Amino acid sequence: MKFPLTRMRRTRMNSWSRKIVAENHLSVSDLIWPVFVIEGENQQQNIAAMPGVYRYTIDRLVTEVKEAYTLGIQAVALFPVTPRELKSEHGSEALNPYNLVCRAIKAIKQAVPEIGVICDVALDPYTCHGHDGVIINGEIANDETVEILVKQALNQARAGCDVIAPSDMQDGRIGAIRQALEENNFHQVLILSYTAKYASAFYGPFRDAIDSVSNLGNKDKKSYQQDPANSDESIREAQLDIDEGADILMIKPGMPYLDILHRIKHQYQMPTFAYQVSGEYSMIACCADHGYLDFEKSMFEALLCFKRAGADAILTYAAKRIAQSLVYSN
Ligand code: PBG
Repeated sequence: MKFPLTRMRRTRMNSWSRKIVAENHLSVSDLIWPVFVIEGENQQQNIAAMPGVYRYTIDRLVTEVKEAYTLGIQAVALFPVTPRELKSEHGSEALNPYNLVCRAIKAIKQAVPEIGVICDVALDPYTCHGHDGVIINGEIANDETVEILVKQALNQARAGCDVIAPSDMQDGRIGAIRQALEENNFHQVLILSYTAKYASAFYGPFRDAIDSVSNLGNKDKKSYQQDPANSDESIREAQLDIDEGADILMIKPGMPYLDILHRIKHQYQMPTFAYQVSGEYSMIACCADHGYLDFEKSMFEALLCFKRAGADAILTYAAKRIAQSLVYSN
């Protein structure tokens, strides 16, 4: 039927009709909160490149996580800031059972046992060169790195981590980690694979937050992270991760890669997450600081767009703030 029998504006005209025809919704349980952990006590540090995001000592983090769970957030993703003197060529601090992230996992699971704890598997917080793997003959050595990542994953599982999230983009790591988890009786530990992780400039503020930028300098991660020009490559990555035993797939960065999210979700119907990365967060937060954007409205729109594109959940640094406004506006 044509105009005027059809008038698209009829359902848009009022708030009630807009609400009842809405196809997608954002709720607090869609949000996963990535957090930065530092050594020390009772401290909270600003991150210059990420206004409104802080690094917390474990004691403060526990309080923050408790509040987040009370608001309805179901999972947090932990990122440790390793003191420089503990960084090394092979990132061996990643395997220390008493390292910062292991202590943070234990403290959170003790204080808020119901919340899901997700931990990255990759060596960049621990290496003096800032790469996610070990360097042999000037290259990031795939198989040698995977051997270490398996140990890192087991170390985190032993500390009580619920979800292992390999973000390193080495080949074969999902299968190797899954097998090791099975052999060590961690049958229930989930693998959230950074399936389609692109070599992106939008990670800039994160590298500042975990202090790996000074180490990485202007080197890039293009020999293991994906080329932003490619889309079919992500489909192949997803197929491999599913075959190797991943429970959940993730696309990263988020907003510039909504087409990838949509393709993967529709092709595989797996639980599929998106990561709104540090640069995406900071673009909105910095504009808002200058009064050029409304933080909550822009963030809410961006997060809802992830849902429309097919995300089951979204990792966002704004999780707690958006959860507060969702809870208090209902
Ligand atoms: C490290 C890792 C990165 C992010 C999550 N895990 C950075 C990188 O690959 O250099 C980026 C997160 C963000 O930018 O918010 N393996």
